[in-house]
Amino acid sequence: MLRIESLTKRFGANTAVDAASFTVDAPRMIGIIGASGAGKSTMLRMISRLTDASEGRILFDGRDVLQLRGRAKRAWQSDCAMIFQQFNLVPRLDVVSNVLHGTLGQRSTLATMFNLFPREDIHRAIDILERLGIAEHAAKRAEALSGGQQQRVAIARALMQEPKMILADEPIASLDPMNAQTVMEALRRIHEEDGRMVIANLHTLDTARRYCDRVIGMRLGRIVFDGTPAQLTTGAARDIYGAGADFSEDATSTEIRDRDLYAEAALRDAEATV
Ligand SMILES: Nc1ncnc2c1ncn2[C@@H]1O[C@H](COP(=O)(O)OP(=O)(O)OP(=O)(O)O)[C@@H](O)[C@H]1O
Ligand SMILES: [Mg+2]
Repeated sequence: MLRIESLTKRFGANTAVDAASFTVDAPRMIGIIGASGAGKSTMLRMISRLTDASEGRILFDGRDVLQLRGRAKRAWQSDCAMIFQQFNLVPRLDVVSNVLHGTLGQRSTLATMFNLFPREDIHRAIDILERLGIAEHAAKRAEALSGGQQQRVAIARALMQEPKMILADEPIASLDPMNAQTVMEALRRIHEEDGRMVIANLHTLDTARRYCDRVIGMRLGRIVFDGTPAQLTTGAARDIYGAGADFSEDATSTEIRDRDLYAEAALRDAEATV
């Protein structure tokens, strides 16, 4: 289905993704993990053609994705819906209109300018919001919703474009554990019910273990692990993150029962980012 062959991205002297290869034979839910700078975002951005690869190939159902141009490239980008850590909604716009923006690729500029959406699209948007448990907020401004609700609006917008694949770049990194769980469950459900492939960059081990069928570990641009959650042992995780003997799984935990540990980890993350 999806085949990545020796995919490489260089930024000057820096190799962000280094000859990465993997094959996905059926619509799976895949988690990509790895330390900051490992190349996770760059990988997703190359797949969705937001950035050009330096070398390598991406094949989807036999089609050479990196060769697509113009209309075919836009169609591909509509096939792979992206979801981001910061939701990327229009904050002042109401929820339904945000969701309807998922159809923009298919509509005329004039209709878009006047916010004219076909009635059936509006119904479909409401149905999707209902499915994600946020239809009651349809008329509110996006900015009035909680982070978890906003991320579900972003997922609804993605579903409007009927994507073959959902590429989620740290979809829960800005959310508290409760909202993180709701969003991951929504992605999992979409994967199972619709048979859509989901590839999610995740910053915590246990989220990858809990929701994904397969986990890909990246380190310094290379794929250093590719296996099932069960194969992702503490030792394997230590290798992926390049951590020493003091490596603790708790530091990357988002389990609700580990709320305090999560808060500590979040604090450490915040300190590391500053
Ligand atoms: N536009 C860019 N220009 C130059 N270098 C870049 C660019 N985007 C990414 N890089 C570099 O490529 C490498 C991989 O970055 P990337 O954002 O893919 O990592 P990541 O695994 O997503 O990290 P994080 O967990 O922090 O999001 C890093 O060294 C980064 O500095
Ligand atoms: Mg990233």
